[in-house]
Amino acid sequence: MHKLEIVHDGQAGPNASGSVTGLGHVARAGEIDVSHGTILYLDAVTVSFDGFKALNGLTLSVDQGELRCVIGPNGAGKTTMMDVVTGKTRPTTGKVFLGQTMDLARMDEPAIARAGIGRKFQKPTVFSHHPVWENLELAMNTRKDWWAALRARFDRPAQRRVEEVLSMLHLESEAYRLAGDLSHGQKQRLEIGMLLMQQPRLLLLDEPVAGMTDHETMELAGLLARLKGSCSIVVVEHDMDFVAELAGDTGRVTVMAEGSVLADGTLAAVRANEAVIESYLGR
Ligand SMILES: Nc1ncnc2c1ncn2[C@@H]1O[C@H](COP(=O)(O)OP(=O)(O)O)[C@@H](O)[C@H]1O
Ligand SMILES: [Mg+2]
Repeated sequence: MHKLEIVHDGQAGPNASGSVTGLGHVARAGEIDVSHGTILYLDAVTVSFDGFKALNGLTLSVDQGELRCVIGPNGAGKTTMMDVVTGKTRPTTGKVFLGQTMDLARMDEPAIARAGIGRKFQKPTVFSHHPVWENLELAMNTRKDWWAALRARFDRPAQRRVEEVLSMLHLESEAYRLAGDLSHGQKQRLEIGMLLMQQPRLLLLDEPVAGMTDHETMELAGLLARLKGSCSIVVVEHDMDFVAELAGDTGRVTVMAEGSVLADGTLAAVRANEAVIESYLGR
């Protein structure tokens, strides 16, 4: 079986020196302890569905501010990994930590979202009948009641944030269009913008370029590059041109297969890895 304490990158994991039980930490936004440079840490995570292991001893860590690409064949467990991080699925065994102290395996989905993890699903879900700017404004209100929404309208910092995000998305010229009239790629960017309104610390994107044109794909790569440093990003993607654009020569790419990490390193390194060639890229 897997070791309980795993050392990665020459550094002890968050729980190497203490037990998880008894931490009793109450998660609050803005309190993520990244003093060791790690924002997300999964240690020997297993998820069993009726005996089938969708994740099988998955260990990986993501640095604060990093843009990490995760690739791997269908069924490798990439989406399940995101489900575990966001609290949609509980790990059967193993540890999932945000920073040094937040035990995600003990938090529910809303608490994990409040702690600063934003997730984008494959299909864009925007408010089609509202203008683009209003989609962003609505996304800013964690309290979904009309009074908060009304007040936000007169809130200057909120307006500035909407403008900032519009510019980040390269959607300034579309601000007054109905979200439903945007192209698929623009909708995908808008939805990322809606997540950004909550100022997430970690953004999870599952196959964001599916169905996009080449131009839209490169626009999204540009957006993620602009976000780099301000929030950490984990992106699962099959499109290797997109991955190459994001990873560049030095970015870290994790290859998953059969529920665990098959290889990890620069894109060039994982492409040259024998196990990867056999199980995935060579097919
Ligand atoms: N809720 C579930 N119940 C049973 N099996 C599941 C469930 N979710 C995922 N799986 C299985 O776990 C494996 C990994 O799935 P998934 O995480 O979606 O892979 P990926 O995103 O890498 O394609 C697949 O074989 C899938 O069929
Ligand atoms: Mg998937």
